[in-house]
Amino acid sequence: MIDAVVEQVDGRMIRVGDQWLADFASCNYLGFDLDPEIIAAVPDYLATWGTHPSWSRLLGSPVLYEEIEDRLTTLLGAPDTLVLPTITLIHLSVIPLLAASGTVFVDRRAHKTIYEGAELATLRGATLQRFAHDDLDELEKLLKADRSSARLICIDGVNSMTGNAPDLQAFAKLARDHEAILYVDDAHGFGVIGERGPAETSPYGSRGNSIVRFAGETYDNVVLVAGLSKAYSSLAAFIACPTEMKRLLKTAAPPYLYSGPSPIASLATTIAGLDINEQRGDALRADLYAKTKRVLDAVDRLGIYTPNRDGFPIIEIPLGHAEQIGDVGEFLFKNGIYVTLAAYPLVPRSEVGFRIQLTAANTDGEVDHLIQVLGSLASRFDLQPSEQKAA
Ligand SMILES: Cc1ncc(COP(=O)(O)O)c(C=O)c1O
Repeated sequence: MIDAVVEQVDGRMIRVGDQWLADFASCNYLGFDLDPEIIAAVPDYLATWGTHPSWSRLLGSPVLYEEIEDRLTTLLGAPDTLVLPTITLIHLSVIPLLAASGTVFVDRRAHKTIYEGAELATLRGATLQRFAHDDLDELEKLLKADRSSARLICIDGVNSMTGNAPDLQAFAKLARDHEAILYVDDAHGFGVIGERGPAETSPYGSRGNSIVRFAGETYDNVVLVAGLSKAYSSLAAFIACPTEMKRLLKTAAPPYLYSGPSPIASLATTIAGLDINEQRGDALRADLYAKTKRVLDAVDRLGIYTPNRDGFPIIEIPLGHAEQIGDVGEFLFKNGIYVTLAAYPLVPRSEVGFRIQLTAANTDGEVDHLIQVLGSLASRFDLQPSEQKAA
């Protein structure tokens, strides 16, 4: 299940060679990649704008960017928003700028692309400090001991492996207390989790407006980065930040100055996705939550350990014996289940296993099939037992 060539798709079923598989490795959480209304919106945009603007954003941005940035700013309740092609490009350009010659504090489990940005920052004179995953005490000690002029704390929002969210309020408070900026990558939370309230259709909250709103936080000392390439099925990403920071990035961030822009089709599917999110996003999230809960309940019944404690649609299943990863992958593949394998050395030996992701476009039948295959897997292979982990 690595480097697979997908020859055909049918809904959330994919064909690799002769094998049809239910796809539980997709990050298209809301199913926007397959939404007929979103697909139907694209041709008009192509007829109006062509396929690709080709200018860097500094040279010229189709007015579609203004519309997307205004709508994202309103949805997020953020001070301002800047759209760039990918999160990776944002990390590589923005982390070094914000860290300057100060210190960048990175959660040990932060996404690899954050590390790439932090390592680039060290080449420009910043110091890199790592702290244990979610360990606020260790971070506080490091912040207290730090005398540098600029401090940047980098963490993931909804974690791409565990599926859990950090205690954002506590991180934001630490940042404010120590005059630091909290820089959060919520690639997997944006579109899935959002503001809480009595009208919410599931514990994911409403509107999918990301972790800052989900945590009931403000954007004081907090910069949010997220992508549209997961829940919004579009090649683009954004940083929500103060207007002065946006102005700085427009003069100093290489992806704004030099990179090729997102294709028009992606700007079109972003705008159509924002419309659909307003109309029926909360219903899609309620459905996504229900499907995820069914899988989590089954995992629990089977006595299988997963680090997922927040109920978000990323379910990691570590193996009892790391060396069985090849056999487990083959078993899942032969049984028509496609997941993301996490092999050593990409993850530590104790975390070798696989990651299941649910999307609103997975059918109930596919979820039934997944649960049945997980049962057979658990009787054939040693998975980590839930009680042992809890103890
Ligand atoms: C947490 C996180 N950050 C960043 C990225 C990279 O995003 P992009 O493709 O927009 O560069 C990913 C992709 O999987 C991710 O999971």
